[in-house]
Formats: sequence, C-alpha cells, structure tokens
Amino acid sequence: MTKLSERGNGAPSSPIRRLTPFAEAARARGIVVHQLNIGQPDIATPQVMLDAYRNITDDVIAYSPSDGFRDYREKLAAYYAPLVGETRPVTAEDIVVTVGGSEALCFAIAATCDPGDEIIVCEPFYTNYAGFSHMLSVQIKPVTTYAQEGFRIDVSRLAEAVGPRSRAICLPSPGNPTGVVLSRDELKAIAELCKEKDIFFICDEVYREFVYDGDPGKLAPSILSIPGFEDHAIVIDSVSKRYSACGARVGALVTRQPAVRDAALRFAQARLSPATVDQYAAMAALDTPESYFRDVVDEYRARRDALVSGLHGIGVTCACPQGAFYLVATLPVDDADAFCEYLLESFSLEGETVMLAPASGFYATPGLGKNEVRIAYVLDRPRLERSVRILGAAIEAYTA
Ligand SMILES: Cc1ncc(COP(=O)(O)O)c(C=O)c1O
Repeated sequence: MTKLSERGNGAPSSPIRRLTPFAEAARARGIVVHQLNIGQPDIATPQVMLDAYRNITDDVIAYSPSDGFRDYREKLAAYYAPLVGETRPVTAEDIVVTVGGSEALCFAIAATCDPGDEIIVCEPFYTNYAGFSHMLSVQIKPVTTYAQEGFRIDVSRLAEAVGPRSRAICLPSPGNPTGVVLSRDELKAIAELCKEKDIFFICDEVYREFVYDGDPGKLAPSILSIPGFEDHAIVIDSVSKRYSACGARVGALVTRQPAVRDAALRFAQARLSPATVDQYAAMAALDTPESYFRDVVDEYRARRDALVSGLHGIGVTCACPQGAFYLVATLPVDDADAFCEYLLESFSLEGETVMLAPASGFYATPGLGKNEVRIAYVLDRPRLERSVRILGAAIEAYTA
C-alpha cells in the first residue's frame, strides 16, 4: 500500500466515538442505548433560526466572503458589545466567520504555532485540541487538574509549564469536559501570565451562555473584557451549542490582534467560504429572544442538579459543574474504558443501557483518568434519572 504520512498514521481517533461500534451492536440486539457520551443536545433550535432555513429564496447558493458576510459580522460585533467591558469594542473587522468553532481552533493554533511549538492545555481537555495540534505538528503540553480540587486551574502550575516552545495557552470556559467556569479574576491572572511570557491566550468560549450559578442571564466572563490584553486574546466561538444547532457549522475566530486576524483570513481564503445558508440562519439566530436562553439554562441547571444528586446517590463522586453541560465522574472501578465497554456489550437493565465517554482519552498524561468518565447531560430529566439508575445497577453487577 502507498505509504501514509506519519501525521496521517498517528492521528488520534476520537475517544468519544470509539465505543460507537459497541453501541451499534447493542442496538442491533434490541437494547435501548441512552447516549450520554457526546455533546449533542436534545434542545430545540430557536424558531427564528429554523425559519431562516425554511425561508431561503436564493436561486444560487453562492460562496460568501472568506471571512463571512459583512452584515453577519456586524451583527455579531453587536452581540459581543456587552462582553468587552471597558476595552475597545469588537468590530466586524475583528471577526473571521469559520466552519464551526472547530475551524476557528484550527486557525488559531495554526496562526500562533509553528511545527514543533506547543500549546498548553489543562487536562482533562477537549480532545480535539490534541487532534488539531497533531494535524499541525504542534505539541500539547498538559497541566493536570484534579477531581478532588473540582478541576480548578492553578495559575502557578500553568506558569511552570510555559517553556521556550510554548506559543499559547488554550482553555475552554465554561469547560468541556469539566464544567469549570473561569472567574474574571482567574481569566485576568492567566492573561497576566500570557502577557508576561508573551504568548497568546486562545479562550474557547463556545459555552458562554451555559452558566448555572449567579444571576439569571449572566454570561461566563470573557477574555475580551480584560483591559490591555487585546494583543494576546483569541476567542473561539460557535453557534453549535448556543442555539442547539451543532449541524449548522458556523463559528467565529474573534481577535483584536490585527496580525492574527490577517493570518486567519488568509487561512480562510484557502478554503474559500464558510457555509452560506448556515450564515443566514446564524444571523437570524442572533434575534433569539432572551426567554429562550432563560428556559434552556433553567433546563440544563435542573438536569445538572438531578444528575449530580443521582450520581452521589449511587456512590459515584463528581464535582458540581458550574457551566457547559458535562461533568467528569469518578467511578468505583479500576478501568473505566473496560466498564464503558461492559455497559454496551454485556449489561442491560430492562432492555436499556447507557453510553458514557471514558475520560482517559481526555488526558495526555498516560495513566490518568483511568477510573473517570465524562457524562454529557444532554437528555431530558426522566431519561437522565433512568440512566443513573441503570448506571447504579451496572456498577453493582460489575463490582460484585
Ligand atoms: C470546548 C469546545 N470547543 C469547540 C467545540 C467545537 O464545536 P463546533 O465545531 O461544533 O463549533 C466543541 C464541540 O463540542 C467544544 O466542546
């Protein structure tokens, strides 16, 4: 066979999807599989967005500008206005519309790192940070966060990790998979570190709306609001989770650093255009009423509370997430990978089982996360409560 690149051969496969064949086999046996392994919410997409898809009148589905439609970027700039605090407002020129937050991540890493450089992440981390870094021959340098510390990020440990090849710190807030929301003070401390070391902060804010503690309607603090940090801040954004529209594939890279923006634009020119029709829908989505977010956040909060208390009730420990819709739970088993396979291959309760994501794939340090799983609370409460009951019975059977 013609030889593949080392990059192609070595590309990590998604640990979230690794168990899919087991789930398919379980379904083929007639088992109902409750999927708590991926961040695909069951929440309805806002009506204004759905209507925009239904009302397309174009005769030709043409390319859009490489950085996205100007009117969409202007409307997005208005969306960012309340986030920037005292700093310079974000303008349409500071935004490159991308194919999901995924492409924005790829552009951000490519714009800041050369092959052999490294980005610093906190493990457990969103696994595609490793996937995109690998594609770009960039190293991941993990700083471990710990279940017993609620996965809080210790800035002094981040500081110790910065080395001569470090080009950026890349963190999500609210976090996937941990649900940690960085406070403004924490963001500020990380920003100060980045400034001191002259590296970028790629802040992945795709779950900004999903915060459960504090005032209703409050968003997670944004790196855009830190004064004097405009030159180092790169924000990753997306409509996927905000509007429960993961298939729309519209995201954005937002930066007030002109050179980063120009590099991202040139990458964007190479792939010609983000999706045209989905931008119409994303633009309409910006008119989503506040009440939509209030209802969605209330729903996720209720799910979080039900899940956390349900897990504690079956002897599973987990920190209470403050945002996003994931948590990392520590199971009373030695090998969560084997246990997750067991759930799909060998266990069912009244014809049902659950699919979880083993957390080992969210760590770069070998051996970590062996007894942890990520659970996405993307199902309604009755199914979530049922899933916890199934999990409890499975743990009992497995550890008996
Ligand atoms: C933390 C984080 N960042 C970025 C993404 C990318 O999402 P998308 O490409 O759908 O915008 C995801 C998706 O799950 C995510 O969890």
